Amino acid sequence: MERIGILTGGGDCPGLNAVIRGVVRKAAENNIKVIGIKNGWKGLVNIDTMDLDLDKVEDILSKGGTILGTSRTNPYKKPEDVGKVIENYNKLKLDALVAIGGEDTLGVANKLFKENKGINVVGCPKTIDNDLSGTDCTFGFDTAINIVTEAIDRLHTTAESHHRVMVVEVMGRHAGWIALHSGIAGSADYILIPEVPIKFDELCDVLKKQHKRGKLYSIVVAAEGAQFGKDMVTKDQKLDAFGHVILGGIGERLAEMIEKNTGYETRSVVLGHLQRGGSPSAFDRVVATKFGVKAMELVLSKKFGYMASLQGTEVKDVPIEVAVGTLKTVDVRSYDLAKTFFG
Ligand code: F6P
Repeated sequence: MERIGILTGGGDCPGLNAVIRGVVRKAAENNIKVIGIKNGWKGLVNIDTMDLDLDKVEDILSKGGTILGTSRTNPYKKPEDVGKVIENYNKLKLDALVAIGGEDTLGVANKLFKENKGINVVGCPKTIDNDLSGTDCTFGFDTAINIVTEAIDRLHTTAESHHRVMVVEVMGRHAGWIALHSGIAGSADYILIPEVPIKFDELCDVLKKQHKRGKLYSIVVAAEGAQFGKDMVTKDQKLDAFGHVILGGIGERLAEMIEKNTGYETRSVVLGHLQRGGSPSAFDRVVATKFGVKAMELVLSKKFGYMASLQGTEVKDVPIEVAVGTLKTVDVRSYDLAKTFFG
């Protein structure tokens, strides 16, 4: 084992640099050279790389984003791109590749591994959405829910002063983890998640009951993927580079509907990419660091096709296919707990 590659793909997230640092430090311990592949799979389709050494990772632990850059490039969209990935992996003389990403990036990694074309891949589970199976959590999620919780705390005071309903739209794609956890932590009066179809009348009843008992303001947290029956709210029909529909707009839609139904003045706030920016929390720094070291250990023991995973308090490993097989969504029991605090 002499040279390995490392890439970060999909939406950026706090903790990516901590993983890169962990991999580079562990590789250096074993005299292995690390080649940074820029901008996710795109950098392997086009060969766009940078050498990574101890100096390059010196001050990056607390830095958000990724020093490698990222993209939502899916080489499986064009068969010739998969060929290029394999050709360039060999041209770069890589002995292994660490892919840091969510469902999409790791999905590509898993396919490449399964197709047995000589790509020795290991994975690291990243995403603020926390929707990857096979791990108790992904890094980035903790930072995101801390940012959202702080935002909700701030919205409480302005909502209270103006006697308003505030609808906070948060990220998470088709999983309600960010909405649920930040909603509980931020003491939301109602939480909407994709896993439970929106019960609009119930939501309005909760707000009306609150008013009756004298609480004249409310906070509603809505996951961007929350749905009216099967109707997903999207601003337009645009797809992202990977091919996913771009979510967003549920907060605004709900705010209008709530004001119309209840007569209470309502505003909506979209937290958007604030949830992904900035420095990782201490928890994410530690987990991401452990994931990076674990990924390198998987490389050293040639346990390819596996990814680092948090199980309880320990970092272990699972086959990447376990992570990308089914989306990890919120279970009804956790949502039932949150309901105790509605209204
Ligand atoms: O998957 C992470 C995520 O932040 C989702 O929660 C969100 O829907 C999406 O990425 C936004 O993507 P983009 O950065 O392409 O707008």
